[in-house]
Amino acid sequence: MSPRKDLLDIASLQDEEIEFILANATPFKDLFKRSVKKVPTLKGRTMLTLFYEPSTRTLSSFEVAASRLSADVTRFDVDSSSVVKGESVVDTIDTLEAMRLDYIVVRHKQSGIPNLIAQNTRASVINAGDGWHAHPTQALLDAFTLREVTHNELPGKRILIVGDIQHSRVARSTSLLLRRLGMQVAYLAPGTLMPRDTPAEITRFDNWTDALDWNPHTVYLLRVQMERQADSLFPSVGEYHRLFGLTDTRLQILRDRKTWLMHPGPVNRGVEITDAGMNYDRSLINQQVENGIAVRMAVLYTLRPNPA
Ligand code: CP
Repeated sequence: MSPRKDLLDIASLQDEEIEFILANATPFKDLFKRSVKKVPTLKGRTMLTLFYEPSTRTLSSFEVAASRLSADVTRFDVDSSSVVKGESVVDTIDTLEAMRLDYIVVRHKQSGIPNLIAQNTRASVINAGDGWHAHPTQALLDAFTLREVTHNELPGKRILIVGDIQHSRVARSTSLLLRRLGMQVAYLAPGTLMPRDTPAEITRFDNWTDALDWNPHTVYLLRVQMERQADSLFPSVGEYHRLFGLTDTRLQILRDRKTWLMHPGPVNRGVEITDAGMNYDRSLINQQVENGIAVRMAVLYTLRPNPA
């Protein structure tokens, strides 16, 4: 396996790199049971988080992952930086390059910005979500979580991804990775939120009855992006919940069938999920968060910044 500098998407990862990251996440997760959860692996290295969009899970998860590897962590505060005076991404990176960082973790609303940054720095760049394009560490933590609950038996298992597929970088990255690992993927979405160009192997549903007849092993809910309401892509939050949300009636069907439930967060309670859904005993939401740290430790461990 040749050394990799950046993690920008799932498509560019080789199968052996995916296996390497997922395999290394296990011993990193084992560390979490110890009172001292830190190893010296990245001592002397520096990671910068550069988030142009809000985040709870991904940002804090990367920061915890890096500190558990003994790297120094710096958060670039976009709102109090010269970005607000109009400084471009390339000029910001040019300035940061002089600081000889080792890892830059980037989130940006525009697809392709992490790739642009990667071309302009010797640091390893990790895409923490860019526009509708990709969220590769979310996909890796989802795959790791599903391998845990299936005891590494993903091939042939069915996952139903529900919600705003069209605008979801999570759906793109996670469905691509899970298909590569042998899962069968289906989408359930209103017509306005279903991409037109889905691969033929992905089954498409427009209602829960047919989707549940497909008998998924896991249901993966996506966040309803409330800002899309202004684009009239769904009639109302109440209507979305009735037609596409995991109502308590649908949750009972999952409970009866022992179906697993996932969500990348943040959730909209009462829209795509109910309070009962959040308390469901087969919800993997917290396990996804915990695994996110282990998988991001494995990603940082795998990447090799260019020499100074
Ligand atoms: N899953 C995810 O990307 O969540 P955050 O937006 O909180 O980082």
